[in-house]
Amino acid sequence: MAVSVTLFLVVFVALVSLGLVSSAKFEELFQPSWAMDHFMYEGELLKLKLDNFSGAGFASKSKYMFGKVSIQIKLVEGDSAGTVTAFYMSSDGPNHNEFDFEFLGNTTGEPYSVQTNVYVNGVGNREQRLNLWFDPTTEFHSYSLFWNQRQVVFLVDETPIRVHTNMENKGIPFPKDQAMGVYSSIWNADDWATQGGRVKTDWTHAPFIATYKNFEIDGCECPVTVAAVDNAKKCVSSAERRYWWDEPTLSELNVHQSHQLLWVKAKHMVYDYCTDTARFPVMPTECVHHRH
Ligand SMILES: *[C@@H]1O[C@H](CO)[C@@H](O)[C@H](O)[C@H]1NC(C)=O
Ligand SMILES: *[C@@H]1O[C@H](CO)[C@@H](O)[C@H](O)[C@H]1NC(C)=O
Repeated sequence: MAVSVTLFLVVFVALVSLGLVSSAKFEELFQPSWAMDHFMYEGELLKLKLDNFSGAGFASKSKYMFGKVSIQIKLVEGDSAGTVTAFYMSSDGPNHNEFDFEFLGNTTGEPYSVQTNVYVNGVGNREQRLNLWFDPTTEFHSYSLFWNQRQVVFLVDETPIRVHTNMENKGIPFPKDQAMGVYSSIWNADDWATQGGRVKTDWTHAPFIATYKNFEIDGCECPVTVAAVDNAKKCVSSAERRYWWDEPTLSELNVHQSHQLLWVKAKHMVYDYCTDTARFPVMPTECVHHRH
């Protein structure tokens, strides 16, 4: 017992000193990127406000490769039509990679939709959309991105809703060479967001407020002062240093998670680019392989 506790402590201290464990207050990990006057701090809660003057957004202070990022969000209550709240990771530059959650508001009583997208080397067009199995405006729910060399997993309350699998062996590029920042924002997107843009934002219901808490980033930190190649090298597991996200059990979903994903796709998915033959007469290559 004592030995295992000691071992645990040694491992834990080693992980902390590598900068891997980081569950923290907003200000430790993030900073506002625009409209600071649309931020409200209430104890452990952060509120972002959208009104007819401005939205608001924040970004992580550092960039990361691999690991897991989670935030708890309570989305805009009541009439949120026309508003979008986004939570995403993105690298910089024209060939950037990006993993997106976009929460699309709706009129009172109609379901919020969650749109996800994956950009690889600057190219997106991989939208999926689902209506959640709960009302995301009454309580906090956790939204996470898990990322390693094998897969990118989008999770809602730890239930996987999307997996983007590494299929480099089929010649399909996978995002694993660029450090990414973590971002969130709220803005007006009533030209497209709600019921295809038919329902506009009703500004008499402003301000629209998204509330956040429990910010967690457990990844390999890539300081901007360090060259990209050196960061990339540091973030790959080696004989001396094995990162938790590189454990073999995390190279794909476990059986329980695979069942959860099937359930989400069968019961809650309302749009999948892979099956949109009007838009893609030829099925995108990764979709062909995803079916197997
Ligand atoms: C809003 O509600 C309508 C009607 O229930 C639904 O068709 C739509 O998917 C919902 N979400 C958005 C973003 O329009
Ligand atoms: C913003 O909305 C408020 C409340 O509806 C309204 O009084 C004001 O004129 C609007 N301002 C602008 C710039 O549209």
